[in-house]
Amino acid sequence: MRILGIETSCDETSAAIVERAGPHDRPELRSLVILSQDVHAVFGGVVPELAARAHLTSIVPVVDKALTDANASFGELTAVAVTHAPGLIGALLAGVSYGKSLAYSLGIPVVAVHHMEGHLFAASLEDPNAEPPFMALLVSGGHTMLIDCPEWGSYELLGGTRDDAAGEAFDKVAKLLGLPYPGGRYVEELAATGDPARFRFKRPMLGGAWKEGQPGYHDVSFSGLKTAVLNAVRGSNDIERDRADIARGFQDALIETLVEKTVRAADERGRSRIVLGGGVACNRTLVAAARDRAASMGATVHSASPRLSTDNAAMIARAGLYRFERGERGELSLNAYATMAIPGLSLPHG
Ligand code: KG4
Ligand code: ZN
Repeated sequence: MRILGIETSCDETSAAIVERAGPHDRPELRSLVILSQDVHAVFGGVVPELAARAHLTSIVPVVDKALTDANASFGELTAVAVTHAPGLIGALLAGVSYGKSLAYSLGIPVVAVHHMEGHLFAASLEDPNAEPPFMALLVSGGHTMLIDCPEWGSYELLGGTRDDAAGEAFDKVAKLLGLPYPGGRYVEELAATGDPARFRFKRPMLGGAWKEGQPGYHDVSFSGLKTAVLNAVRGSNDIERDRADIARGFQDALIETLVEKTVRAADERGRSRIVLGGGVACNRTLVAAARDRAASMGATVHSASPRLSTDNAAMIARAGLYRFERGERGELSLNAYATMAIPGLSLPHG
């Protein structure tokens, strides 16, 4: 079984080959090519129309390179897995149109993959223990979700953000601190040099009022924290001196909130594994804090390396393999959707 994965939901054009020798073998990542579009940096954010156009010109060479790196040919592919939701619609359409045409011309099936299900599968490509049952925290530029996963394909959404996604909060704070876009990793670097005692921002939705069993117990919110950072920046009379300390205060508050919410949810559901996914899971301080806190309740934390945490086609090929093995096949009428719930996702008690 050899799956070509294609990911074009935002500003990365990516292709990857995942293989499974037999039903009892572990899926293996054979190649992964990620082309990040740098055209957006000057705008301080992704420009959807430019992203779609860049995918159109990059997709063919990116797929060719993924095949070459895997030492495979088109004729050896079993199926094409492509992200069809959620994301920027023009960007998604570039990948979906290409994926469908390729599958049709090769006479093989196309399989539709939900981008966030891809993030759930990413860590399992590197870590044999990143398998259900687990509690997952997905933290990316567009999403923040706490998902209980008793088995692949069955997901319960326990909580999420009420406003900004975690990555979005990092990016906005980076902008306030004069750092480049996307700013998560620059905030992390700067925070590492900051004094944790100078700016202690309130931990959002953590304190006494948010009791177990009450609505919002598993939710997070970052808009208040962002405003606190804005006020600290405006109130500073020496921003060069304060930047690192503010970054540290922000990151400490955000990480403590995410880790606490995740560990509480894992404990409540009796999960001894926690999977972290999405671009913000590249943050080593977050992963280390989650490991420390989870260890206190006997749980382990599983996260992918940075290249599999941010958007990539390896996770799409892996999730596509799972969907393909379940017998799922996309029609030639397969469409792209800007928003869509993860297949198999339910709300608590729903
Ligand atoms: O999953 P991803 O690549 O794309 C989306 O699906 O959104 O996530 C991108 C996000 C950006 O907001 C970026 O700033 C953030 O991940 N990010 C980080 C780090 N590396 C990437 N945030 C915090 N710390 C990092 N080291
Ligand atoms: Zn993503």
